[in-house]
Amino acid sequence: MARIAHLSDLHFGEATPALVASLGADIREAVPDVIAVSGDLTRRASRVEFSAALAFLSSLETPLLMVPGNHDIPSQDLWTRLYDPLGRWRSVSPAFPLTVLETKGLRLVGLDTVSRAQWHLDWSAGAISGNRRQQLARVLGEGAVLVCHHPLRHAVWAVGRRPPRHAERTIDLLTTHRVRAVLCGHLHRAEMTRLGPGGPAQIIAPSAFSERGGGANGWNLVVLEDDALTVETRECVGGIWTARTLSAV
Ligand SMILES: [Fe+2]
Ligand SMILES: [Fe+2]
Repeated sequence: MARIAHLSDLHFGEATPALVASLGADIREAVPDVIAVSGDLTRRASRVEFSAALAFLSSLETPLLMVPGNHDIPSQDLWTRLYDPLGRWRSVSPAFPLTVLETKGLRLVGLDTVSRAQWHLDWSAGAISGNRRQQLARVLGEGAVLVCHHPLRHAVWAVGRRPPRHAERTIDLLTTHRVRAVLCGHLHRAEMTRLGPGGPAQIIAPSAFSERGGGANGWNLVVLEDDALTVETRECVGGIWTARTLSAV
C-alpha cells in the first residue's frame, strides 16, 4: 500500500502563516509515504516565495516529488521567461523535464507541462511536445502515477480553459502504458474523472492556500492498494478540517 499526499497550487505569496501551519499538521497526522506537488508553488515565481515553499515542504520530512506550474516561471520579465524560465525554480529543485521517484512499489513520474509562450493569448495553458512524450514513454510502466500541473482534460465547468497542447496524444500514451493515475492541479478545485475507457484516473487537488478559484483550500490523500485507488479530499474551512471521499464524475 502507498499513501500519497497530493498537494497543488500552494501559491506562496498568498498563503497565511496560520493555514500553512494547519496544513502541515494535517499532513503529518495522515503519515503519507510520499508527497507529490503538482505545481504552482508560488504566486509570482519570486525567490522569497520559492524559499518559503521549500521551507514548508522540507519541514514535512517526507520523500518529495514536485513539478512546476505556470506561476513558477516569470510572467512580467519576458526575457527570462523565454530564455531561462526555470532559473528561479532551480533554487528549490533541479529543473528536469521528467523526474522519477520510486517508493513502496510505486513509480511516481513528474512531467513538466509548463509552456513559455503559445500561438494564442492563454500562456497559462501547458504543452507536451513530441520530444517530451518520447522521454515519457521511456520511464512509464504499468501502474505508474504521473504528476503534472495541467489537467489533460478539463471539466465542463472550467469554461474558457485550454488543456495542454497535445494532451490527447499524451492520454493515448498513458493508456497504452497502463498508467494508473494522473495527479494534477491548476483549476483550484478537487475533482476525479476517468480519462477514457482503460485510461488513467485524473485526480485534481484543490489549491492548498489560494482563495482564487472559489473552492475550499485543502489537499488530497491518494491511497493505492493492489487494484484499489481511493482519494480523500481534505478541506479546511474556518480552521476546521473535514474529509470527503472523491468519486469519479
Ligand atoms: Fe494555480
Ligand atoms: Fe496553474
